[in-house]
Amino acid sequence: MSAATPITDVNQNPLHKDMDEWDEFLEGRYKEGKTEEEFRQYDAEANPGVAEFYRLNHTYQTHQYVLDKEKEYFGLTRGKKSIWEAADFLNTLVDDSDPDTDLTQLEHLLQTSEAIRKDGHPRWMVATGFVHDLGKCLCLWGEPQWGVVGDTFPTGCAYSDQVVFPEYFKANPDYNNPKYQTKYGIYEPNCGLDNVKMSFGHDGYIYEVMKNYLPMEGLYMLRYHSFYAWHRHGAYEYLCNEQDRAMKEWVLKFNPYDLYSKGHTKPNMAELKPYYDDLFAEFFPEKLDW
Ligand SMILES: [Fe+2]
Ligand SMILES: [Fe+2]
Repeated sequence: MSAATPITDVNQNPLHKDMDEWDEFLEGRYKEGKTEEEFRQYDAEANPGVAEFYRLNHTYQTHQYVLDKEKEYFGLTRGKKSIWEAADFLNTLVDDSDPDTDLTQLEHLLQTSEAIRKDGHPRWMVATGFVHDLGKCLCLWGEPQWGVVGDTFPTGCAYSDQVVFPEYFKANPDYNNPKYQTKYGIYEPNCGLDNVKMSFGHDGYIYEVMKNYLPMEGLYMLRYHSFYAWHRHGAYEYLCNEQDRAMKEWVLKFNPYDLYSKGHTKPNMAELKPYYDDLFAEFFPEKLDW
C-alpha cells in the first residue's frame, strides 16, 4: 500500500463475521420491561462495534445505493437453490468468537421457527420463521455487513429520529439533498410501503425470493422485520396505507420469535428434518431463484 492509497471505510465490517452482535444489541435494546431511559443508554459507548456498524450503514445507504443494489439483486440471477441448500450456504458464514455458545445461522432459523410452531401458529408462519434470515447470504456474495443487516429505514425522504443512532445520518449525502429531506420526500402521503425504497438488506432481498410462495402476512414479516422505527416506534405512519396498517400486527407478532427465541439447547436437526421436508414441500418449489 502506498501513502497515496485513499482512506476508505466503506468495506469495513465492524461486527463479528456472523453478525450476531447486531442481534444481541437488538435483544438488549428491546428487552421486555425496559424503560425509555434504559433504552437510550443502549448507546455508542456501550456498543462501539455496533455503533461503528450503524455509522457505516447510515452514511452509505443512500437512495441511489438502494436503487443500484435492487437492480443488482432483485432479478434473482444468482442461481437456483432449495431451502436446505440456501440454509447450508448461509451456514458457511461462521464465526469463531465463541463456538460453544453461539448459534449457527441454521440454528437461529430453527429456534425461531420451532418457537413459532410450539405456540401453535399456522404452518405458513413456521415456514416464514425458518426462511426469515436466509437473505443474509448477501454477505457471501461480497456485500458489506452495513448493506445486509441492521435496522432498515425509508430512503428518499426525511429520516426519523426513531431510527437507531439518527445522528449518523448527517454523513449521508442524501442529508444535504433538499429533495430527499422533506417529510414525504419523493413519495406521496400514504403511498404505501410497497412504493417506498427501504434501505437495502436481507429483509428486502428475502421478500423478493419468497414473494410468490407465502401469504401476505408472512411476506410483511420478512420484508419489514428490521424496520423497528415503524413496527416498534410508530414512525413513518404517514407513508403507510390501510394494508400496511392491517399487516403491522403480523410483523409485531413475529418479532418476539426473532428476538427472544435464542435458547440454550441446540435444535436437533436429524429429528426435525422430516417435519421441515414436508413443510417446505407444501409452500416452496424444489428449487427457488436466488
Ligand atoms: Fe433478520
Ligand atoms: Fe433473525
